[in-house]
Amino acid sequence: MGARRKIAVLGGDGIGPSVIEEARKLLEVYRDKAGLPLDLWELDLGADRFLRDGTTFPKEIQVAIQLECSAVLLGALGDPRVPNLEHARDILFGMRFGFDLYANIRPVRALHDRLVPLKGRSARDVDFVVFRENTEGIYVGMGGQFKRGTPDEVAINEDLNTRKGVERIIRAAFEWAKTRGKTKVTMADKSNAMRHAHELWLRVFHEVATQYPGIEARHLYVDALCLMLVQDPSQFQVIVTNNLFGDIVTDLGAAFQGGLGMAASANVHASATPERGKVPLFEPVHGSAPPLAGKDIANPFAALLTAGMLLGHLGWPAEEARIERWVTKAIEEEACTVDVGGKLGTRAASAWVRERIAAEL
Ligand SMILES: NC(=O)c1ccc[n+]([C@@H]2O[C@H](COP(=O)([O-])OP(=O)(O)OC[C@H]3O[C@@H](n4cnc5c(N)ncnc54)[C@H](O)[C@@H]3O)[C@@H](O)[C@H]2O)c1
Repeated sequence: MGARRKIAVLGGDGIGPSVIEEARKLLEVYRDKAGLPLDLWELDLGADRFLRDGTTFPKEIQVAIQLECSAVLLGALGDPRVPNLEHARDILFGMRFGFDLYANIRPVRALHDRLVPLKGRSARDVDFVVFRENTEGIYVGMGGQFKRGTPDEVAINEDLNTRKGVERIIRAAFEWAKTRGKTKVTMADKSNAMRHAHELWLRVFHEVATQYPGIEARHLYVDALCLMLVQDPSQFQVIVTNNLFGDIVTDLGAAFQGGLGMAASANVHASATPERGKVPLFEPVHGSAPPLAGKDIANPFAALLTAGMLLGHLGWPAEEARIERWVTKAIEEEACTVDVGGKLGTRAASAWVRERIAAEL
């Protein structure tokens, strides 16, 4: 089984702790029944902790994760009691930027026809992955406000794109396609309107594509991509795009797979050999959904599928497939939460999947 793998587990806010609790129980089954060498380290961070003692993301925790952990499993951050999201920014950006997790990988796969809202389309038509650039773009927080609160107010957010940053995410998308036998990579930008930054994306995309002759490289403006995704998602296999467009396109993708309760993601520093300190972060795509918190109604499947991505990344791809197979079965049997057509609560839907996996191990 190899060396022990320490996983930092952070439920976060709102529904985060309840869905991550279910993902944790599933990982414990793998540890206790299948003997996977997993050590789970619960972190007390999030809005409650921030409101209690002002802690957001201490440096010593960041360093300990970087020195000791193989992965982080995170629920979601965001709480109405912290309106400026100070804690969420420190924790999330502390990991995304601090660990240089430049590739946000979001599989968009529908597990059942019932979940696909597109007329005339079935689950078979929805199977692509989005590579969202995760450390640059308009989300870096560069900019400012001038003459705030006056009629002459000016507000600026800079869109930062570096050659290195653009090239590595595009290359990661091609590499992913190559290693999985995919034949199409689509890059989406807005180079017709954003002539400086996105001309860089377009030029680098064509350059990198020449190194992958077996893969069809297609360029689309992001508005056209959205239109085509709704018309026929089956034409896409791998989509690579910047931070802002990736954020939007992946929520559109989540709608094709049954909503945010079904969407998993990984944030990684994709490189041929593991790099010290670049600890991958796995999180369901959804936020903290405060209105659902504490009611046992949030869909736990995004969190279970995310735990599956974590196991796949750590070298157990058969277990990632097993989790997806049992979540699919649960959807088929309507052993799921109301958002995806079932009647079960968070804990019962999760237990349905976990018990069947446990029985197989
Ligand atoms: N990575 C993160 O931690 C992250 C991501 C997105 C939003 N947020 C934060 O979460 C908070 C709420 O944001 P929001 O409402 O825009 O997004 P959200 O994802 O929390 O909710 C959007 C919609 O999806 C539904 N939903 C989400 N997860 C679900 C689940 N597991 N089961 C069933 N339904 C689910 C919600 O009920 C809501 O209708 C905000 O503070 C926001 O900043 C955090």
